[in-house]
Amino acid sequence: MTTEKLEFYRCEICGNFVQVIMGGGPVMHCCGQEMKHLVANSNDGASLEKHVPVFIKENEGMCEIRVGELPHPMLNEHYIMFIEVISNDKNKMQLQYLYPEQEPKMLLTSDWAKATAKEFCNIHGLWEGHND
Ligand SMILES: [Fe+2]
Repeated sequence: MTTEKLEFYRCEICGNFVQVIMGGGPVMHCCGQEMKHLVANSNDGASLEKHVPVFIKENEGMCEIRVGELPHPMLNEHYIMFIEVISNDKNKMQLQYLYPEQEPKMLLTSDWAKATAKEFCNIHGLWEGHND
């Protein structure tokens, strides 16, 4: 297996968390074993907590990404660690780190019409939503 551009990998032992800038090589190792490829969930299903990122159009060409359909908790023990937006051609990305007590959202300029948003919950993992 080889890595691909902008994939996420995590070490299941120490928690080291990386994103691939340019792929094509073998999967990285950490703590003596292969890192785990994180695959994003895209369907909240019937769960009460919502994680799928949603693109919201604001005034004057601004857009924001919210997590999720109902705001996700932002507590010390359970919160969204980051939101990232990636253009569909994978030539542009922007990352926003988040911390407990902040709102689970990210402000964008208008040019993210064809893009995917990803977010990482410290308990429930990686999720994605699309703007197309
Ligand atoms: Fe969560």
